[in-house]
Amino acid sequence: MIMQKRDIVQRFLEAGLLVHPAVVDYISESAKPGIIETILSTIPHGVSVVTPKEVAGMTTSHTDKLDVGLSPIPLIEDGREGTSIPLSTPEDAYQLMRSRFEQISSMLQRRVTPYPIEALIRQGSKYADTEVGVVGIVVSSQTNKNGHRVVELEDTTGTIRVLFNKNREGFSEAEKIIPDEVIGVKGTLSKPSPGSTFSTMLFGDKLIRPDIPLTHTFEPPKGAEPGKIALISDVHVGSDTFLPDAWDRFNEWLFEHPEIGYLLIDGDVVDGIGVYPDQDKELHIKTIFDQYDYVGELLSGLPRHLQIVLAPGNHDAVRGAEPQPALPEEFRTKFPKNVTFVENPSVININSVKTLMYHGRSIDDLIKYIPGASYNHPGEIMEAMLQRRHLCPIYGQRTPLLSTEKDRLVISEVPDILHTGHVHISEVIRYHNVLGVNAGTWQSQTSFQKQMNISPTPAQAAIVDLSTLSCQMMGFLRTKGEFL
Ligand SMILES: [Fe+2]
Ligand SMILES: [Fe+2]
Repeated sequence: MIMQKRDIVQRFLEAGLLVHPAVVDYISESAKPGIIETILSTIPHGVSVVTPKEVAGMTTSHTDKLDVGLSPIPLIEDGREGTSIPLSTPEDAYQLMRSRFEQISSMLQRRVTPYPIEALIRQGSKYADTEVGVVGIVVSSQTNKNGHRVVELEDTTGTIRVLFNKNREGFSEAEKIIPDEVIGVKGTLSKPSPGSTFSTMLFGDKLIRPDIPLTHTFEPPKGAEPGKIALISDVHVGSDTFLPDAWDRFNEWLFEHPEIGYLLIDGDVVDGIGVYPDQDKELHIKTIFDQYDYVGELLSGLPRHLQIVLAPGNHDAVRGAEPQPALPEEFRTKFPKNVTFVENPSVININSVKTLMYHGRSIDDLIKYIPGASYNHPGEIMEAMLQRRHLCPIYGQRTPLLSTEKDRLVISEVPDILHTGHVHISEVIRYHNVLGVNAGTWQSQTSFQKQMNISPTPAQAAIVDLSTLSCQMMGFLRTKGEFL
């Protein structure tokens, strides 16, 4: 009789032992009555995890199952190592914004049918009092002394001022218009002043963002059981506030859950060196190589069937300008083979479910510009990114952006999952059937967070079932796998 793998794991747990997935496979396939009890009777005292080397009768070929059970390597659809190539002339910065405008305006064409701005201004007398549409990139966005929102909008032909009246429906969305986002507006042109044919202003009736279509649905993967993935972020190894005991509980828990085939780590895997003033006083591991070596050891201790995807964040030893390159080779010497290094951002396809990984540094900028936004609710900011189809809409604030020919921070394709981190506060949202997960952190409150009155949510992992996209946050701060 073939035993269920879950029952096998359960029997070992009852005996106070964890069991390696290769051993679970071996028992399941052997179908010998009493095999578990036979194995249990031979486990030496002091062993806490039963691996193939503890099991008499597991041959070399069985030991090779360590790799046979390995989940397939995920498909990196965007952000594959080596994709990000820096360009450096002033024209390249222009090209970056032009690429952003072209990609996002094409999403708006059908809903707005925009006129070229220059043509509208010049032919004000022809178009005044009729509804017209424009699509542009926001040059500036301010509330005037009467409380109306005035936005300067630019397309490839010219610029126009757009006024959103505070008394009109939907004004709260106009208040959230931020610099450098691409929007569509439908409205009425102002009448040219006497003796002129030029209009100078558009009265905005309707603000149209590229957004995620309301009709967007999640297509469950076809074929064999797609399994589960774990999403985490901001491990901050090297900091004296990193939580090794919680990590160990997570590690043990993963051994008990072989259905989880992938672990996605969304940046700030180490605390880094010299990231902020006097950081060395808060470091438990004081060199960057030692920090990464320790990460390598932690990842080597995880179940070997896992495929791990690792993206950088602003604390990692890579260029800060986004898109950030993958972690360089020289820091990987102690990492196991089952780690795939990707850029920030990147799109990971696992059994046809697509996860957009973005560390989330732009959250710092967006919080300042979006009324009501706060660090306690990164989900709202994830929604703002999806609505604007851009991971870092504001140029020139705290998030450095690289001048590249194509703006890779545009959310060109709707992801199934948007995975962020950076703020150290977890939150799960659903927005038009896209799952948004900010995965929190693995360090306790830092002195900086104490000063800022920020309470992090440490030692959590989001477990996502790929067949349904259901998401469960699991906590490891106090116990091994607490439902949150
Ligand atoms: Fe972080
Ligand atoms: Fe960060």
